[in-house]
Amino acid sequence: MSIEAQPYGTLSTGEAVSLFTLTNKNGLSAKITNYGGILVALNAPDRKGKFADVVLGKETLDDYVAGHPYFGATTGRVAGRISGAQFTLDGQTYPLAANNGPNCLHGGINGYDKLVWTAEIFNDLGVDKLCLSITDPDGSNGFPGTVECSVTYALLDDNTLEIAYQGSTDKATPFNLTNHSYFNLRGSGQGDVLGHEMQIFADSVATVDADATLQGRRDPVVDGFNDYREPVLLGSRELNIYNADIHFFLNNGRTRLPKAAAIVREARSGRVMEVFTTEPGVQFYAGLFLSVDAPEIGKDGVIYGPQNGFCLETQDYADSVNFPEMGGALLKPDEPFSSTTLYRFSTK
Ligand code: BGC
Repeated sequence: MSIEAQPYGTLSTGEAVSLFTLTNKNGLSAKITNYGGILVALNAPDRKGKFADVVLGKETLDDYVAGHPYFGATTGRVAGRISGAQFTLDGQTYPLAANNGPNCLHGGINGYDKLVWTAEIFNDLGVDKLCLSITDPDGSNGFPGTVECSVTYALLDDNTLEIAYQGSTDKATPFNLTNHSYFNLRGSGQGDVLGHEMQIFADSVATVDADATLQGRRDPVVDGFNDYREPVLLGSRELNIYNADIHFFLNNGRTRLPKAAAIVREARSGRVMEVFTTEPGVQFYAGLFLSVDAPEIGKDGVIYGPQNGFCLETQDYADSVNFPEMGGALLKPDEPFSSTTLYRFSTK
């Protein structure tokens, strides 16, 4: 296992950005930039041993800076939607930017996906890891409290990409970190993901309205519609925001050790991805809006159409601050946060 750093480009502010390549003993590799904590590429073998990059993304740093739908990004301070783009905490009301209909999505205008993170490579009991960290100041994007947070990546020799999150604050604040990778197990740019089989270990989903605004309720999954407890071929159902852009409450809630959250299988390549997490939920998003407003040009100049990738964003209930009974996406002083998510690759 090794981690190598190379220059990735310079921002208009003059800040230099790096690209880190993590390689494991089987030749899998993950490329991660400290701009936005973005997973830029993830090369994994098919059943014949042929490697492909299984995540969607942009070609260059400038393309990421110009804007993208959170490809591979570390998403925060709050991944997902805070309803009405405001909340009240400790008697004070905090208005946020409504950047998605009436809601504040993915931390607001200047979310963690656009920050330059401080990078450090270290060895943790024989495993090379990349730690990205930031200090997110009090008041940024309208949120209270200075948050210190880090995201640590490792590409383990059992073909697992491990992502470990940590956070602490000096004032209570909403906090919900995730990775927003869009996967296509046939390879980036290889068309839609309708031939993938999706399995999610959840009996209930978050209730939303037509704006995808969270309603502070959960509903049982409905057989044939948004029930993925048994593997479902994505092309076998009509995908919409209620079954393919929705928060699933995982059956065992928040756990100390990562538990199985989802398994995705792609028959043609034979690639299988298993997701494990300590988080209590996962937002399944099937890339419904890719290229809907404007062509989404990705790696190698390929246009990614709708459903060309899927995300499994492990997280807590995004709007916990407005509906505390639905989740615990809140960070409090003296209660540091940590979570771990694993994406494990194999073939069948
Ligand atoms: C949201 C989608 C959104 C996508 C890109 C997902 O987490 O649920 O509605 O289009 O992120 O912003």
